[in-house]
Amino acid sequence: MCGIVGYIGRRDAIPVLLEGLRSLEYRGYDSAGLAVIHRNRLQVTKTAGRVQDLRDRVNDKAKATIGIGHTRWATHGEPNDVNAHPHTDSAGRIAVVHNGIIENAEQLRDALTRRGVTLVSDTDTEALAHMIAAEARADADGNSASLEDAVRRVLRRVEGTYGLVVLDTEHPNELVVARNGSPIVLGIGESEMFVASDVAALVRYTKQVVYLDDAEVATVRAADYRTTPLDAQPSGAGPSGEAARRGGARKAPTTVEAEAGDYELGPYENFMSKEIHEQPEALRRALRGRLDDRFATAKLGGLNLDARQLRSFRQVKFLGCGSAYYAGQMGAVVVEELARIPSDAEPASEFRYRNPVVDPDTLYVAVSQSGETIDTLMAVQELRRKGGHVIGAVNVVGSAIGRECGSGVFLHAGPEIAVVATKTLTNMAASFAMLALLLGRVRDLSAASGQRIVAGLRALPGQIEEILATEDEIAEVARRFADAEHLFFIGRVRGWPVAREGAQKLKEVSYVHAEAYQAAELKHGPLALINGSMPSVVIAPSDELLSKNISTIEQIKARGGPVIAVTNAELPASLADAVIRVPRAEPELEPLLLNVPLQLLAYHVAAKLGRDIDKPRNLAKSVTVE
Ligand code: G6P
Repeated sequence: MCGIVGYIGRRDAIPVLLEGLRSLEYRGYDSAGLAVIHRNRLQVTKTAGRVQDLRDRVNDKAKATIGIGHTRWATHGEPNDVNAHPHTDSAGRIAVVHNGIIENAEQLRDALTRRGVTLVSDTDTEALAHMIAAEARADADGNSASLEDAVRRVLRRVEGTYGLVVLDTEHPNELVVARNGSPIVLGIGESEMFVASDVAALVRYTKQVVYLDDAEVATVRAADYRTTPLDAQPSGAGPSGEAARRGGARKAPTTVEAEAGDYELGPYENFMSKEIHEQPEALRRALRGRLDDRFATAKLGGLNLDARQLRSFRQVKFLGCGSAYYAGQMGAVVVEELARIPSDAEPASEFRYRNPVVDPDTLYVAVSQSGETIDTLMAVQELRRKGGHVIGAVNVVGSAIGRECGSGVFLHAGPEIAVVATKTLTNMAASFAMLALLLGRVRDLSAASGQRIVAGLRALPGQIEEILATEDEIAEVARRFADAEHLFFIGRVRGWPVAREGAQKLKEVSYVHAEAYQAAELKHGPLALINGSMPSVVIAPSDELLSKNISTIEQIKARGGPVIAVTNAELPASLADAVIRVPRAEPELEPLLLNVPLQLLAYHVAAKLGRDIDKPRNLAKSVTVE
């Protein structure tokens, strides 16, 4: 999705902006642009191509120490040079970059047109540039509003979501930024400041950051920044903005965990491979300090729930999108097993649009790697409005969903750059196993069973290492089946969310059609599709359902369908066409291990087919639009 960068300081702004945009490429985009102030004039460069194309186009003789940049993922208007950000007013005084969607854009654009303004793009953002310019213009008495006041006045007429940065040639020593629903973070340097929509663009320069809150505006200068609420009173005419700025707060910065190296490939070919291989370490981080041997339970302080509250929930419901939804489904299975509380998962989008009955005795868990996914965020807001108890399971600290929930479990997976979720999914599933353990231990799960799960969780990172060590064999299986046009992923109970996530991974990254089915449902329709060119990946853990899964494999084989079994059981060699083995875990934790070879399978099919692995077509890392 769209990315924002801004810089003000002493450095050459263009390389800083380009570098920032490069580090935001992973989020998915279709055009890019930047604007700087060079010799008191705006210099805007845009392209419907990649950041590299922008780099080629930029006038490298332009020397500037202030500027803004953007990567756009088209919503209003097709991806072309004109619709790319930054957008400017007609006089070329103001430039704006914006993430989010202005819902009353049509009315705002019509009002501008009626006043004789010519709009050159199809975007909602361009309207903002013209409106800010109009507000900033001097009135008949020669009084001009401060840039911040001008922005504030405009934003009061705007409905929708935004994270934005405004550049003004008349105020070349400041950037004005604002946030409502789309993240904006300030990076605090030594006599220089950075602005971004994602810390990825800042960490190489500074670890000190300030997250803007919704409905907050900030004026950023090289040596200072001030934040004020959007509804703070503009200070009227005269050199008025000064008063508002003086009244603003200098919020204390927080230190980000991420390192610049987290955003570098190192020895890996792409980020998906890197992140698959980071799983043991990422999982250790998620478990660290959270396993309690003495009471055979989990410690999840971020939940802010005491034992009595934990006991009061009569249901647990997970909400998320894409892989986060499938992780939620894994969570629901393990919560039911360990805590014996009814639990299920639902796509956050379905939940929010169906006017849900919100139950005060249900614990709702909003699951999101980015913490920005709009459908999940809206589900959280709907829940809070209706008095539901919702906690977050998010990876990005300071993200909208994490902040909106106020309590929850951080995933500690480290930055995930590849569009498809790998290490974050594993950490989600592990976090839900810990949540299930905790909910179980305040109820009827015995200490002995709790201890078994604690030990089982602790063993997982090493077991994932064992699976990763078999990558070559999995790659071989992937190559054998890479030509298939369609695949089934089959699982039941614990294996069902694993099958769904496996199919999702293959679809996302290799564009091969994959469909997940519950094993027993196969015979109620889809079996008709089985033939020699429809391989099935069957998830067959060594649990009490193994014999059922073996009969499923036999049913598929009897109809000539090739079978790839993913298992930790000793299956007869002749049963399947390929067998991918994983180590034995505690049965309730097996989904975590069974999922890992499916990541590698998808990865190697995509590699064989020559796909752009980190940036699958049509997909974005975090979907912040409806
Ligand atoms: C996008 C990605 C998916 C991801 C989903 C949820 O659609 O392509 O891979 O699972 O968003 O993202 P989140 O950040 O909320 O976990």
